[in-house]
Amino acid sequence: MLSADSRELSRQLQLHQQKIFPPTSQKTIRQFTPAEAAYYIGIGEGYLRQVASEGHGPEPLANGRRVYSPEDMDRIRASLDEKNSTQKYVPIRRAGEKLQVVAVMNFKGGSAKTTTSAHLAQYLAIRGYRVLAIDLDPQASLSALFGHQPELDVGEGETLYGAIRYDEPRSIADIVRATYTPNLHIVPGNLELMEFEHETPTAIASGTAESMFFARIGEALAPIESLYDIVVIDCPPQLGFLTMSALCAATSVLITVHPQMLDVMSMSQFLAMTSELMAVVENAGGRTSYDWMRYLVTRFEPNDGPQSQMTGFMRAIFGNRMLQYPMLKSTAISDAGVTKQTLYEVDRAQFTRGTYDRAMESLNQVNSEIETLLKSTWSRK
Ligand SMILES: Nc1ncnc2c1ncn2[C@@H]1O[C@H](COP(=O)(O)OP(=O)(O)O)[C@@H](O)[C@H]1O
Ligand SMILES: [Mg+2]
Repeated sequence: MLSADSRELSRQLQLHQQKIFPPTSQKTIRQFTPAEAAYYIGIGEGYLRQVASEGHGPEPLANGRRVYSPEDMDRIRASLDEKNSTQKYVPIRRAGEKLQVVAVMNFKGGSAKTTTSAHLAQYLAIRGYRVLAIDLDPQASLSALFGHQPELDVGEGETLYGAIRYDEPRSIADIVRATYTPNLHIVPGNLELMEFEHETPTAIASGTAESMFFARIGEALAPIESLYDIVVIDCPPQLGFLTMSALCAATSVLITVHPQMLDVMSMSQFLAMTSELMAVVENAGGRTSYDWMRYLVTRFEPNDGPQSQMTGFMRAIFGNRMLQYPMLKSTAISDAGVTKQTLYEVDRAQFTRGTYDRAMESLNQVNSEIETLLKSTWSRK
């Protein structure tokens, strides 16, 4: 019964997906206006106009305007650095700067982990960093959002499980996939990730594993670490072995929280359990110190009294461990999510202008605050 239902559901989902995204319609990042491109490159609009007219930018459209793809922005960054003999605009890691691994977590479903991970990973890629997104959630919504259907496009051993399993793990290099966003790669997820939760107790009991569960994600990343600047891990909504291994691989932690009483109470439990478990892992030799750890308020409605109160309450307790900017609730984000798109993909004309722009402003504030933390870890300004 269940298996017939599951097959039929999966088939219907596939049909539905094909209707939303016919095979011919490739997912893409949208093109950016000169103002947006200047912002992501990190120069003034006037300077961008000059650089573009010197032949380093895209050709103008028929109406004389230019729009910029992420590739155009990459080319302009490279030409700016060449022109000024600097290493200022291409932001990739320099000697002595270590790979940064950001774990996005909370065990409350719906706290916007996946939305936050997806937009952070894309933002950093558009800014020119080499980014790897890892979908560690068996529900695999991040993979779906980035165009890899967990049941259809992701085969056996093609999730991170393939690289961290106890029996004949494969190299993560064979698992990583490109996405339609330049500079952004993904390790997709699907249900097979659950196997790690089931096999770990046996591996611990038998004592035959070459390395403990908490070390496995960090070790799996080692062969490709020089190819990336930042890894973003979308953690599952529970505190299992996958999450603990991600916490040991992480150099920083972002905890997403919707500012409502029940969510904050659940987070409080989550923090208590995490700290207990991590103490155990630490005793067993796991590394658990972070360059930074921050709480991000998500789906925030400034006009909602109780939400503002709850945010103030958290600020009083956590101080500057709260990000200064919250992510505002916006129909632009939720509507884009319905068609499995991010704000960097949906057409701005689909929304009333104010709606899209307010969401994008909030998103850029949050992401650039996180980027500043990443840069300060590398001792950059
Ligand atoms: N800033 C936002 N504004 C509006 N809706 C949001 C926002 N962030 C997330 N959502 C919506 O909330 C739901 C849960 O978000 P999701 O990122 O999937 O949470 P999680 O991964 O923690 O379970 C999704 O439907 C998503 O589109
Ligand atoms: Mg999720």
